Amino acid sequence: MTMDSGSRPSSEKEAPVTDKALSVAVRPDGIAVVTFDVPGATMNTLRADFVAEFTRVVGEIAHNPDVRAAVLISGKRDSFIAGADIDMLEAIETAADAEAMVRRGHHAVAGLAKLDKPLVAAVHGPALGGGFEVALACNGRVLSDSPKTVLGLPEVQLGLLPGLSGLQRLAALTSLQVALDYGLTGKNMRPRQAKSLGVADDVVPAPILLEVAVELAKKLAAGERPKRRRKSRLSPEGLTKLALEDNPLGRSLLFKKAREAFRKKTGGHYPAPEHIVDLLERYAADGLEASQEQEAQSFATLVTSDVSKNLRSIFFATTALKKDNGVDDASVEPRDVKKVAVLGAGLMGAGIAYVSIDKGYQVRMKDRDQAAVGRGIGYVAGILDERVKRRRLERPGRAERMGRLSTTVDYRGMEDADLVIEAVFEDLALKQRVLREVEEACGADVIFASNTSSIPIAKIAEASSRPENVVGMHYFSPVHKMPLLEVIRTAKTADEVVATAVRVGKKQGKTVIVVNDGVGFYTSRALGPYMNEASYLLTEGVAVETIDRALTSFGWPVGPLTLVDEVGIDVAAHVGPIMLEAFGDRLLPPPTIERLVADGRKGRKNERGFYRYGGDEKRKKGKSGKEVDVTVYSVLGLEVPNADKPPVPMEEIRERCNLQFVNEAFHCFGEGILRSPRDGDIGAIFGLGFPPFLGGPFRYVDAQGPARVLERIERYEDRFGARWTPAPALVDLARHGRKSYG
Ligand code: NAI
Repeated sequence: MTMDSGSRPSSEKEAPVTDKALSVAVRPDGIAVVTFDVPGATMNTLRADFVAEFTRVVGEIAHNPDVRAAVLISGKRDSFIAGADIDMLEAIETAADAEAMVRRGHHAVAGLAKLDKPLVAAVHGPALGGGFEVALACNGRVLSDSPKTVLGLPEVQLGLLPGLSGLQRLAALTSLQVALDYGLTGKNMRPRQAKSLGVADDVVPAPILLEVAVELAKKLAAGERPKRRRKSRLSPEGLTKLALEDNPLGRSLLFKKAREAFRKKTGGHYPAPEHIVDLLERYAADGLEASQEQEAQSFATLVTSDVSKNLRSIFFATTALKKDNGVDDASVEPRDVKKVAVLGAGLMGAGIAYVSIDKGYQVRMKDRDQAAVGRGIGYVAGILDERVKRRRLERPGRAERMGRLSTTVDYRGMEDADLVIEAVFEDLALKQRVLREVEEACGADVIFASNTSSIPIAKIAEASSRPENVVGMHYFSPVHKMPLLEVIRTAKTADEVVATAVRVGKKQGKTVIVVNDGVGFYTSRALGPYMNEASYLLTEGVAVETIDRALTSFGWPVGPLTLVDEVGIDVAAHVGPIMLEAFGDRLLPPPTIERLVADGRKGRKNERGFYRYGGDEKRKKGKSGKEVDVTVYSVLGLEVPNADKPPVPMEEIRERCNLQFVNEAFHCFGEGILRSPRDGDIGAIFGLGFPPFLGGPFRYVDAQGPARVLERIERYEDRFGARWTPAPALVDLARHGRKSYG
């Protein structure tokens, strides 16, 4: 009998064809195979209305004398249960409704857990959130060894906690520390880790998944105890558990440490981790049932909170963007891209080459000489090696990827490239020259994409004989880590070309927004006034670290002056005048940057900027070595300020920088640079680190009220003049009492 995880043995073909999600087929050997297969969906997700079905199936198994044990498997090809249906969460109106829903879920899952016959989950594909929780409530778990199989409790990423007691069951199966770790990070657990943690009884190839799960169910029915791996009490993990988890004092230390660690990261902006730790603490003290009441209340509080709603809005926006071809006409098909050429093997070029070979593209990477090419290869190999070291990639996978990368110092081997992405120096004449060279060396249909961070694409395209094939693909550094790609179209770029750039970006694993051309596009432009305002505050006598702290405590990952150091003071100095020319006094920078450049400060890259960096030695020891370089004040003709007594209140520092960012985002929207507030929010969060819990600049303004935001901006305009000119699109919203989102 051949089976795979998606098909069932022929003796069960009589299983009723039903419009229900769960079906039961009893095998001659007394094992009931319960198949979960949500009708009409490509992936299984959990919905509240399945509670009755789970209860019915549990009853059927319990009362059928022919059934010894059961296996729960998915009827979908590549997913077990991908989590709760998030649309269902949007329909929740009150906290009381949410609590009632969680209690019904508890009841259904308790039915599985308390079944007096063994139940084994056979998991192939993602078992996330509620899916993992259902598997945890079973008596055993067999996983396929497929890379598609991942377990996890990602609820925290949506500002929630797992609501089907998955945290408690994971703690019972492993340890409180493991449950805290997976609950607080939402990270994935791979089959091999699941086995070593004692979560999985077995990991087997997908074709024999069901049969192995059936055998385990039989053994459990015969009274054998699961032989899953348990750490010895004398192993280092066992001893830590003994010291920390098996006595009240150790446990309170464990929870204290967990709280300290996440508060440092979240700055208190995200309530879900607090609830997660509280729940596990309650469970450790009083057991599963006592903790479930708290679980229901916590879930209800979180699911109705603004933070979770904002985080869910980001999820919905990225899901919508995955389906968006990037142009208004949804029927436009992208061109087929097999071979990508990358010009420039520097930081960006090598990063772009890496994300391309990683996802199956053939890549030809060109730089000026062998030394530069060699550095690019070294960069790509370094990222792959790191993945191998972390066991995220096998050696053959590494070799296969490197096999897709070839290099050159001229245009040989690029004749058949479908897409050329340039990442040479930020210099218009150079970019135009390489564009002409590409048009000469490659086929007539080749798409030329520029990774410029500030030069308008139309300017570059002036050198082109086929401007319809010229587009911007603005990646962020480091390319393999940053999730955003900003695709820029000019008035002449063909829809098909835009759609192709979007598809390539998605394949490279990016969330892609499409914006219209203009100086700084959207992302670099919104950052301009934000960074400028930080520099003005500096000239008003606010200390470097105070400015940065004001913004990190608001939820930005780094402060604006650290960001200038990261981007490069020289780069900021280069872009500043271009912005000024394009947008006038609104983008007038204070004279700080010029003076810093004259002093030879480039920021992080030469370890001299607003901060001093400790050099490689300190970094090797795991210390950043970053501290404010006080000599920066004398270079700027300023007194060394008192960081603890800023002349401008912290709240004003925060507000001025943020409102500059937000106002510029609205300028971009009003001028048609952005296609939608959604894209503005996603671009700001994924490209620049705008605090995700606020949902992005447009959602932030909606929450504050456009009229109130406008009033604040106008007050600053009265004080500081032209650089605070309010965006017409914001004025419009405020006047008409409308919001950005409907
Ligand atoms: P980089 O200086 O690390 O690399 C540029 C590379 O281009 C060098 O290896 C150089 O030898 C090579 N090159 C110069 N002329 C060439 C030619 N004719 N043919 C082939 N290669 C040539 O610079 P980076 O940081 O990689 O930036 C490249 C581009 O990406 C710039 O336009 C920059 O504005 C843009 N960008 C940079 C970001 C960053 O954070 N560094 C972020 C987003 C865009």
